[in-house]
Amino acid sequence: MIVPFVLNGELVYIDANPGERLVQILRRRFGLLNAKEGCFSGRCGSCMVLMNDEPVPSCLVPVFQVKNNTVITLEHFSKTKEYREIMEGFESAGITMCGFCNAGKIFITHAILQKYTRPSNDEIRAMFVGNICRCTDIESLIAGVRNAGAMQRRRRNAK
Ligand code: FES
Ligand code: FES
Repeated sequence: MIVPFVLNGELVYIDANPGERLVQILRRRFGLLNAKEGCFSGRCGSCMVLMNDEPVPSCLVPVFQVKNNTVITLEHFSKTKEYREIMEGFESAGITMCGFCNAGKIFITHAILQKYTRPSNDEIRAMFVGNICRCTDIESLIAGVRNAGAMQRRRRNAK
């Protein structure tokens, strides 16, 4: 089946097998390796991408659902100011990342800061339910999200 979609800002067409999942397509056909194949069942967050601006585990997305949609991977998102603020926020909270679930941590943080101006600890915890990170405890993550949120507010207020 031919599937057109917008990948990292560019219209692409793929000839896909109906059984393929988005994470496989990203990695094998486009060499976009930041979406990792972890649990393959929507529980770890390592394969996270933005689809139509929402974080989704790409291991759960069958190829037909990608048709005519917009997908952004961490490779592309890492060029944005929002990414830089998240990374600075994480760094100032002492968060180190092994790389395995970066996509999950970063895209979930982005979604939290899109949804809430000042997220509560419980709201942050709830959003991270679909992300299993072995490197970072949830308290540090909460601090990292708060730091990134403060940076984003400062930037917006400075306009
Ligand atoms: S590989 Fe997709 S959520 Fe774990
Ligand atoms: S960054 Fe290492 S498992 Fe999450």
